[in-house]
Amino acid sequence: MLIPRLIERKRDGLSLTGDEWRALVAGYVAGRVPDYQMSAMAMAVVWRGLEPGELAALTEAMLHSGAMLDFGDWSTPRVDKHSIGGVGDKTSLLLAPMVACLGVAVPMISGRGLGHTGGTLDKLEAIPGFNTRLSLGEAIAQVKKLGLVMLGQTPEICPADKKLYSLRDVTGTVESIPLISASIMSKKLAEGLSGLVLDIKTGSGAFITDPAQSQILAKTMIGIGEAHGCRTVALLTAMDRPLGIACGNALEVIESLEGLQGRGPADLMEVTYALAVEMLIVAGVDTDRAVARQRLEETVSSGRALQMFARMTEAQGGDPRVVSDYARLPRAPVTMEYRAVQDGVVCDIPPRKVGHAIIALGGGRSKTEDTIDPGVGIMLPAKPGLRVRRGDVLAVIHARTEADAERARTALDEAIVLAESATPLPLVSHRVTAAGVEVLIESSRA
Ligand code: URA
Repeated sequence: MLIPRLIERKRDGLSLTGDEWRALVAGYVAGRVPDYQMSAMAMAVVWRGLEPGELAALTEAMLHSGAMLDFGDWSTPRVDKHSIGGVGDKTSLLLAPMVACLGVAVPMISGRGLGHTGGTLDKLEAIPGFNTRLSLGEAIAQVKKLGLVMLGQTPEICPADKKLYSLRDVTGTVESIPLISASIMSKKLAEGLSGLVLDIKTGSGAFITDPAQSQILAKTMIGIGEAHGCRTVALLTAMDRPLGIACGNALEVIESLEGLQGRGPADLMEVTYALAVEMLIVAGVDTDRAVARQRLEETVSSGRALQMFARMTEAQGGDPRVVSDYARLPRAPVTMEYRAVQDGVVCDIPPRKVGHAIIALGGGRSKTEDTIDPGVGIMLPAKPGLRVRRGDVLAVIHARTEADAERARTALDEAIVLAESATPLPLVSHRVTAAGVEVLIESSRA
């Protein structure tokens, strides 16, 4: 098989056969297909897309390029949630222990911060000792014992995606619906799930900003999941402003622990419960959304979800005392308030600008090898639509040095826009299933 001929065919808008995709992926993982050819192919896909059969073959080839979490005949439903990435998005830390309290196992494989977005692994690793680098055997054993594990992608899972994703990241080939779908779904299907809930972010801070494209992405991923016997549903949620108040790893852990004690910010809790309800539905343990929501709220009010978080933390080598003693988490030495310079309504807080300000503080990465400072970040109590007076505190910067805090202050000058009015996106706007798209706007709060 001559790789240049395959690239030319895709470049010219023709299809490749399943065997050709399988051979290409196998050759790439084995090092026989060099990066320059694979990046040319990725760019051809960005422009030409993939036929459904090609997408299925590419996803299969990536899925089978490595190992899977094999639960054998264990019959407990297994469900995960995957977010396309956001700023301040710590829903995983809340919903995973809640759902695990209700007889649904959550084998959650998460990622690190990417671009302007934060990553669940970075947040968990803010907890002293927390180990996200478990082997597949350890992860399976913990899920069977506790019902919950949160770990990073292991070298055994989807090595083709690991290699291809790094290549796409530096060749301008991330923004492609078929490539994103194959990348995410191959990893999720490797978790041996019976159900999956996708959180597709919409708005200026999302990787895909056009709502129509977000729906196509959701439908594409749902198609792949359902074809593999994994019930898959997607919610479209707002990422035109950060979610919750805390942005930055340790700060987000604290906000999550507050949420697990019933004290989380309203927007964060709304999105968390919406996603968690869908997890219980796809798991098949609930059919009524209102009942599912009540059961989830009970895991919080009873303290069971918090206890589950502590047990998971301990099982993974972390200090479980953090759940009641936040002083055990890393903390930045400098805090600086950011105040409104005029009266007005908070109109816009672009997540990209906030995300980049956090990276500049040292709380995120510009290059994969960067180390991050888990203590830094920005608390953003201001939300679009909030009327403020001159001098009100809109944000609190947590920094390593005064100079870093000053730089973040300048970044916030650009990020926080005050005006006469604001029109934030609805928090949870659509539910997408194999049956179609349902508009939920009426039931969401901004
Ligand atoms: N996240 C992934 O895992 N893959 C993509 O292609 C994009 C976001």
